Amino acid sequence: MRKILWGIAFVAMLCLAGSMSRAQDAANGEKTFKAKCAACHGADAAGKSVMKSPSIKGKTAEDIQKVLSTSPRHAGLKSLTADQVKDIAAFLATLK
Ligand code: HEC
Repeated sequence: MRKILWGIAFVAMLCLAGSMSRAQDAANGEKTFKAKCAACHGADAAGKSVMKSPSIKGKTAEDIQKVLSTSPRHAGLKSLTADQVKDIAAFLATLK
């Protein structure tokens, strides 16, 4: 019985740790987004017509990675690491 309870507690802890680290990714991504992307895409990622930039809400890490390597508009952002891109995507996924 005891073993089962410990098992349940362990699984609950893992779930908690998992959701906390995702929230942390999104928080980091928000910082990077505000510093590197918000000027063109807007603070809420909805895009800015003056900059001719589209909404990027809900874009995935692959979408961002592709744009960074193909779009001249994003040439200055090639130094972003894969982790930073993943964090930005985690943040964009929180926007509706
Ligand atoms: C200098 C202004 C500028 C900055 C800074 C900028 N973008 Fe963009 N972005 C654009 C413009 C303009 C487009 C549309 C044309 C293009 O793809 O080049 C675009 C397109 C995109 C697209 C493709 C959207 C689609 O629907 O095809 C994604 C994804 C994107 N940007 C992500 C980002 C991310 C993430 C950052 C920050 C790391 C960023 N951008 C920073 C101007 C910018």
